[in-house]
Amino acid sequence: MYATGGLLSLIKPFAVDKGNGGYELTEECTMGFKKDFVWGAATSAYQVEGAYNEDGRGLSVWDVFTHEDGRVFGNHTGDIACDHYHKFREDVKLMGEIGIKAYRFSISWSRIIPNGTGTVNEAGIKFYSDLIDELLKNGIEPYITLFHWDYPYELYKRGGWMNPDSIKWFADYAELIVERFSDRVTHFITFNEPQCFIGAGFKNGEHAPGLKCPERDVFLMCHNVLKAHGAAVKAMRKAAKQPIKIGYAPTGTMPVPAEEKDIEAARRALFECPDIDAWVWGVSWWSDPVILGKYPEEGLKKYAEYLPEITDADMKLIHQPIDFYCQNIYQGVFVKADENGGSVRLPYKTGITKTAIQWNVVPECLRWGPRFLYERYSLPVYITENGMSAHDTVSLDGRVHDPNRIDYTHRHLIELEKAAKEGADIAGYFHWSLMDNFEWACGYSERFGLIYVDYDTQERIVKDSGYWYRDWIKNHVR
Ligand code: NOJ
Repeated sequence: MYATGGLLSLIKPFAVDKGNGGYELTEECTMGFKKDFVWGAATSAYQVEGAYNEDGRGLSVWDVFTHEDGRVFGNHTGDIACDHYHKFREDVKLMGEIGIKAYRFSISWSRIIPNGTGTVNEAGIKFYSDLIDELLKNGIEPYITLFHWDYPYELYKRGGWMNPDSIKWFADYAELIVERFSDRVTHFITFNEPQCFIGAGFKNGEHAPGLKCPERDVFLMCHNVLKAHGAAVKAMRKAAKQPIKIGYAPTGTMPVPAEEKDIEAARRALFECPDIDAWVWGVSWWSDPVILGKYPEEGLKKYAEYLPEITDADMKLIHQPIDFYCQNIYQGVFVKADENGGSVRLPYKTGITKTAIQWNVVPECLRWGPRFLYERYSLPVYITENGMSAHDTVSLDGRVHDPNRIDYTHRHLIELEKAAKEGADIAGYFHWSLMDNFEWACGYSERFGLIYVDYDTQERIVKDSGYWYRDWIKNHVR
């Protein structure tokens, strides 16, 4: 098998030079998923925990947003969600049944620091500490996401990400987490999908806090978030009780080459800076500063009139060494080269399979996305989210049969394995989601889980896909 494109330079250690410009991959590389590959599932605090006003938890922007009429489908809220706060032991047991090796969850900032800064809520700390202990007892490795969108409301009232102090607020919060949990936890992820909490929260207003801000404010918030990431990484390294590993988890639709000759066009498309209307969804604008230490030139030119002051000191702060790169990947788009050296996104083919939430199914996104990302950033890649919503039903036999989710996951994992075989360093895969949960603006109308949740009774049922994933993991753990 031959490697193609820029990946070649990175896989040389795994490849034998054939002397004809090609490299044959060694067995280590062609075996696919590596030995210590991490098979997991993910959730986030606001989407599953509930207990929104218990044991001293402060409010987040999502609590306030969901309590306003008409913001969320059916006026659903995360007040109770999956009641994971009370049922986490049962949930860990189910994780054991599915056989996942790692659980990615997020911490609710206002549960452990109700005002966002200052007094620590020990009851909140205890919840996460107990959860970590329970996971470890069951042989499941905790992966902690520090921020998955539920910004403390008290800090929002002080200007949130617009306030230059927001950088230190986040760094202090990160330090506390690492101080309290790094005796038992090794993997920490700073931000989940910054594109989304800034883009949907402050640009199109579909998510909390529901604002449509002027473009220059949104760029400033982006810059402050990136600085907060850097400041947090520094604080976390200092506070760590043992060597820790830090990652960062943006999102994006992955361009897929329509044909072999379009590989370069797809690669270019992934890292290009979209026009101003869509700038916030770009990948390189959010990831280059963190990993390469600079904003992409194309964006600096395109967005010049909206940008805040960007200093060398800012870039130095943002560019802290991290240990792994995460990407949430749900969708792809086919791309081909045009005659002028550009890239064209092709329309989806008529009748393409869609998920319940109407996302197009393009499994090749899990081959090309991770490959391109590994080439550019040279860090081990984790797929921190991938999965689909479906119209799941409890059948007359009491089981939840979800063949579409099995098919989706299977196809995506086949593609991911190709990326690994082709030399990209793929470190892990977290299915989204462990269980059905509060799907933001869609409320409970979209089900993404491997476990079905009856929101009236809080009964859980492992879906067929959960058992399928169990078998997949069994067959792939070496
Ligand atoms: C991205 C988000 O991180 C997660 O919270 C959300 O539920 C899933 N994707 C599905 O939309």
